[in-house]
Amino acid sequence: MPKRDWITRLSTKFRQCQQSPFWHGAVALLLFYLPQTAGADLIAEGRAIVAEHCTRCHVVPEINPKGGIESTPSFKGMKHLADWRRRFEVFFTLPPHPALVTVVGISEERDKSRPAFVQEIKLSVDDLDRILAYVDTVKN
Ligand code: HEC
Repeated sequence: MPKRDWITRLSTKFRQCQQSPFWHGAVALLLFYLPQTAGADLIAEGRAIVAEHCTRCHVVPEINPKGGIESTPSFKGMKHLADWRRRFEVFFTLPPHPALVTVVGISEERDKSRPAFVQEIKLSVDDLDRILAYVDTVKN
């Protein structure tokens, strides 16, 4: 049975379209921008988490340049350390954080007889990535 005329025409049109440089450009643009916008979201979310929780003690240059607690290292200062990324990956295991930070699914359950000494910070594993994405943008 011969194909109906309009189907043939449509499929020819479609094939022509696919070959057009416009589509190549559009797909390339999409592939280029998608990861970037996802990255931008991650950074913005990380900044919000840091602003809400970490600036209670740490100075973060563009959020609370005159805040923080004096004895606490600033994020800018820590970016000078060669292993800053590693430190930010595991900070919740390093004192004083275990006493106040819980990463859901990773941290051990807090003993009821030893409650957090200040308002507890609850983070998800994804939040750790968000924090890291933001800290990556902090200039040293
Ligand atoms: C209650 C205050 C407080 C809060 C809130 C806090 N920190 Fe800290 N943080 C400290 C202090 C104090 C140190 C220095 C510890 C030391 O010198 O041993 C520190 C050190 C660090 C270090 C370096 C760790 C090391 O020993 O190498 C990192 C990374 C860090 N904090 C990240 C964070 C992040 C991210 C947040 C927010 C989710 C946060 N901190 C929230 C007090 C705090």
